[in-house]
Amino acid sequence: KPREIILQINRTKHVITASPDASLLMVLRNDLSLNGPKYGCGLGQCGACTVLVDGVAARSCVIPVGEVGLRAITTLEGLANAKTLHPVQAAFVQEQAAQCGYCLNGMIMTVAALLERVPDPTEQQIVDALSGNICRCGTHIEIMAAARQAAR
Ligand code: FES
Repeated sequence: KPREIILQINRTKHVITASPDASLLMVLRNDLSLNGPKYGCGLGQCGACTVLVDGVAARSCVIPVGEVGLRAITTLEGLANAKTLHPVQAAFVQEQAAQCGYCLNGMIMTVAALLERVPDPTEQQIVDALSGNICRCGTHIEIMAAARQAAR
């Protein structure tokens, strides 16, 4: 049943009332109006809901909010500072790497996490990092170009 839960999201503490079994994705979207993370499959299989948990890309649709604790959650909204785009966001804009755009949250968060770990990734490392992120429009060529540009 619902209880008070404290979360650290985008460098800010939030106190919410939610069932600990609710997914982090639903809490982010419905309780905190953070709509960067998207609901795609709800099964951890498409990547649309990706957020960073302590800097590591994770699928928020399969994380029960009651298990998050005080780990640092970063959503698309918190990736950049308020004034400028994050370099990965800027690269995706420059390469026009969106068609419908639904997958882009997951693509951007996944590339940002990769570059945090591996600042100068190989083509294969980018492919491997994005292999679990599904784009139904098929803009993979532009997405790869944006990822390569962000790594420069
Ligand atoms: Fe979470 Fe698809 S909505 S992986």
